[in-house]
Amino acid sequence: MRRASLLSPLLAAAAAVVVAVVSAEPASTLSGPSRPVTVPLGDRGHAVDLPDTDPRVQRRVKGWAPEQIAVALSAEPTSAWVSWITGDFQMGGAVKPLDPSTVGSVVRYGRAADSLLQEAAGESLVYSQLYPFEGLQNYTSGIIHHVRLQGLEPGTKYYYQCGDPAIPDAMSDVHAFQTMPAVGPKSYPGKIAVVGDLGLTYNTTSTVEHMVRNQPDLVLLLGDVCYANLYLTNGTGADCYSCTFAKSTPIHETYQPRWDYWGRYMEPVTSTIPMMVVEGNHEIEEQIHNKTFASYSSRFAFPSEESGSLSPFYYSFDVGGIHFIMLASYADYKKSGEQYRWLEKDLAKVDRSVTPWVIAGWHAPWYTTYKAHYREAECMRVEMEELLYSYGVDKMATSHADEAGHCPDPASTPDPFMGGFCASNLTSGPAAGSFCWDRQPEYSAYRESSFGHGILEVKNETHALWRWHRNQDLYNTVGDEVHIVREPHKCLIDSTRLAY
Ligand SMILES: [Fe+2]
Repeated sequence: MRRASLLSPLLAAAAAVVVAVVSAEPASTLSGPSRPVTVPLGDRGHAVDLPDTDPRVQRRVKGWAPEQIAVALSAEPTSAWVSWITGDFQMGGAVKPLDPSTVGSVVRYGRAADSLLQEAAGESLVYSQLYPFEGLQNYTSGIIHHVRLQGLEPGTKYYYQCGDPAIPDAMSDVHAFQTMPAVGPKSYPGKIAVVGDLGLTYNTTSTVEHMVRNQPDLVLLLGDVCYANLYLTNGTGADCYSCTFAKSTPIHETYQPRWDYWGRYMEPVTSTIPMMVVEGNHEIEEQIHNKTFASYSSRFAFPSEESGSLSPFYYSFDVGGIHFIMLASYADYKKSGEQYRWLEKDLAKVDRSVTPWVIAGWHAPWYTTYKAHYREAECMRVEMEELLYSYGVDKMATSHADEAGHCPDPASTPDPFMGGFCASNLTSGPAAGSFCWDRQPEYSAYRESSFGHGILEVKNETHALWRWHRNQDLYNTVGDEVHIVREPHKCLIDSTRLAY
């Protein structure tokens, strides 16, 4: 089975108490540990993609009018990114990239819809996905624009139009978004939605509709965006690319228009609710010259420069009293590598008296017991776990549990991008059901395989509420919830790092 509309088993770990415990009553990380719970697998049905004939994925603008408009956060609430695309993509044997300099990148904005007196300009680019093999088609994108707004008031609604005011009918409608609360220990956003493995299926539409009805202020998308790599360049899709196409194609193709379909479908959400994305394995998308991540790196804006990482794959940002860190499962994570060095510096800079909470997110889970991708990220865990603990990171969120899998041979190397296995499998016994292994380990408090979305509400310096909303329930029904309580004074680490 492929693509959930969202991460399934997501594990929340508090630094003070590692295991999040769930019971029939609303639980807290202070009340454990209790017996781990596994909810029997239900039939999640078959994931069916939205077809290219669905009006929600079709191009709705003409000429150079903007589409696929999206807002992302910068490193601080006083700044934000607005991104969009002008012009249409091309598919074919011979594609001619558009010239990004022909369409300007301007955002006009202000605090009232009829008074957009501030203006910011930005940059534009195109990317191509090239497969110079007989019978395959190439892709080149529309012009992708990224503009950073600065000097914003935190916690304030801003109206904006984007486009090129010098070209007739090339400015968007007026949209609006809310900046994040000011950085400080007493200020927190209302709801933060956490999704992953989103895709563009009818499960996706269910997840997104549920999520929007819960009115999040911010969306974290933890990788695996549109699954364009489950398609051939002729637009033929498959549930399982490696089963269906692997032997008949010279390279793992993708069908890049799926990205545009996804951007169009998501625009009503992304143009009004800031969304922060980090890469998953489905964004690797290898093309000629071993080039990877072209679409991911080009389409989204990241606060990479603002947070000192200079990489689209990992970055950080502050929202009220929370310091978010997005990490890369698919870039070098070794202690000797750039990501690790950046992470060390970033963590060292965090002042817990200003942002008491440090929350990290990435794609490939370290602690999952789900069969799919079981222990794939072990190398990353071995390299980085100690560092995150040493700085008392309060919570982590991951994704990547979207496909059927098998409990692996510890000596195998299922995914070269993940570096193989870094430790032998210490859990013994036969695999059963969809989990590895029969016996649920102590670090796993609750496991359930449903599509849905998570909502995190940080209440104050010490208390947060994590809720899991399943697609099969009403949007406001809680499938699972746990209070996450910070106890920094109990952590056996340098107290100066945790003072608040
Ligand atoms: Fe994944």
